[in-house]
Amino acid sequence: METVRQVLALRSRIRTWRAAGERIALVPTMGALHAGHLSLLGIGRRRAHRVVATIFVNPKQFGANEDLDRYPRQEMADAALLRQAGCDLLFAPEPATVYPAGFSTNVSVGGLDRPMEGASRPGHFDGVATVVTKLLLMAFPDVAIFGEKDWQQLAIIRRLVADLDIPVEIVGAPILRDPDGLAMSSRNAYLSPQHRAVAAALPRTLSATITSLREGSAVAETLSTARAALQSAGFKVDYLILADGATLQPLEALSPGARLFAAAKLGTTRLIDNMEVQAP
Ligand code: PAF
Repeated sequence: METVRQVLALRSRIRTWRAAGERIALVPTMGALHAGHLSLLGIGRRRAHRVVATIFVNPKQFGANEDLDRYPRQEMADAALLRQAGCDLLFAPEPATVYPAGFSTNVSVGGLDRPMEGASRPGHFDGVATVVTKLLLMAFPDVAIFGEKDWQQLAIIRRLVADLDIPVEIVGAPILRDPDGLAMSSRNAYLSPQHRAVAAALPRTLSATITSLREGSAVAETLSTARAALQSAGFKVDYLILADGATLQPLEALSPGARLFAAAKLGTTRLIDNMEVQAP
């Protein structure tokens, strides 16, 4: 597996494959890869002849008080994992390649970027939308794969691709979980052993909440019980919301397409998760 850092090199490899009639899958990442990312690669391999992964820790999606500097960077280890997973090409650009001097365009997807992560992390989704638009236009893949753990990000990317007529199929990859249920995330590495031991209370509480909702409990009361359970397990809850999976609008009652979304901090580590709530 070759690593390229320049857009011209990326495009030239992809052009050769296209000329041979091959389909291209793109898996954008920020590195610090885990089994969840490798499952995106597996989906790419099933849907295309060639899989291109990107590793770029995108400064534009980190707020001033966020963890850009301490975000794990381990390109050699990541490249080894990608090679084993059958990746054909790694695009790992420098920040100045993605954002050269004078860069001044901002892609902003209105509406879907307001609730949940958008409310807690102002500007985050502009950063995501801008870099994803750039990566899609750099590579022009047939299909691009994003994890459902970042459900709001996935909804925003689907919207921007539709709005900007970017000819790519966006595929969501189901969340991969550790044996105790914690959604896999590069940020789990920040958890202290004590916090890691309680982290699975987040998915457990979401599952229990879904069970109560499906049994007919009132939404507001059930969410407030769940919030209290998370707080007593040591979480600082940012949000716990029942919302429509497509519009992300909060719901006061169960309806088809409903999902439960949560973000909560253990110490300085912020965890997010979401689960489908199938109406009974
Ligand atoms: O989900 C991520 O890892 C990032 O937000 C993405 C999509 C690679 C954009 O930087």
